[in-house]
Amino acid sequence: MLGVGGGDEVIVTPYTFIATISAILEVGAMPVFVDVDPATFQIDPDKIEAKITPRTRVILPVHILGLPSDIVRIKAIADKHKLLLVEDACQAWLAEVNHQKVGTFGNAGCFSFQNSKHLAIGEGGAIVSNDEDFIDKCFSYHNCGRAYGKMVDQVGGQYVIAANNLRMTEYQAAIGLAQLKRLDAHTTIRNERAAYLKSQIKDIPGIVPYKLYDNVTRASFHLFPFRYKKEEFQGMQRSEFLNALSAEGIPCSAGYGGTLNSMPYLDDAFKSKNYQKMYPKEMLDFKSFVAKNQCPQNDKLCNEEAVWLSQSMLLGSKSDMDDIAMAIDKVHKNAGKIKK
Ligand SMILES: Cc1ncc(COP(=O)(O)O)c(C=O)c1O
Repeated sequence: MLGVGGGDEVIVTPYTFIATISAILEVGAMPVFVDVDPATFQIDPDKIEAKITPRTRVILPVHILGLPSDIVRIKAIADKHKLLLVEDACQAWLAEVNHQKVGTFGNAGCFSFQNSKHLAIGEGGAIVSNDEDFIDKCFSYHNCGRAYGKMVDQVGGQYVIAANNLRMTEYQAAIGLAQLKRLDAHTTIRNERAAYLKSQIKDIPGIVPYKLYDNVTRASFHLFPFRYKKEEFQGMQRSEFLNALSAEGIPCSAGYGGTLNSMPYLDDAFKSKNYQKMYPKEMLDFKSFVAKNQCPQNDKLCNEEAVWLSQSMLLGSKSDMDDIAMAIDKVHKNAGKIKK
């Protein structure tokens, strides 16, 4: 809908859900991975400019885990290089930077209604933008290509774009509207609980909670992330830490289990007829793509350090947060005994 397609490059973080990258591949564009800042889990703005080439059309930051990315700096880079800015805010309902909602900084912001999200209504999503023509086109796209908005005046009820039926149902909307009423209050609770839990675990050696950028006025906390440093836990592997914490009654996970910048789905796209037609051979060599798109900080998060607590836990009481902190501390104190 933004005119991005074959031959174009899109700058993106590898620390995200596959859908972010699938959206790039679906239009025939090429993902270009920029490593993360492990302190914030977000795309590292210091590393973006080095990845801009004459093919770059879009920067696609993801406000991952419901924590805002450094969107003001990223927007300045996009503006400087005359690039489109598309925000994946799928996990970041109501998150704010300088009191402005994430998803509203770029040309378009994308949100998800999928079941794990804060506005969970089954499946589906929303796109926001200040660009009327773009939004009219998005509306047409999800409704079989029928004219919408200004296009109706120009062409009547004709099909104006090659599109699809991606319409959601009214039943889902009813559920969504009911949930909307509590979204703000839940977001406030999650912010309070996350700040408290962070204060309770930050001094446990080997536990490094998320950092928010200074201009973040509200996060969404789709997840509560921290980094696990095994050196401070007698060398105990992260998987052992997760098992021990789970045994204490604290649900937790390692988060994204693989690195999206090196998985076979990319090779599959590169081998497709369309990609073969749209790109020079050297850009489609999977091995050299992986070599060029290395993201060691992301590797470390995915393979060794990241630990996630789920959003629902942050709706618990303050004393629930104390329980979580005590369990982490207990595992730390007993690491020597737990380690295999
Ligand atoms: C960061 C991110 N981007 C995109 C998506 C895709 O959203 P949907 O499942 O609504 O297509 C999700 C989650 O599902 C997500 O977590």
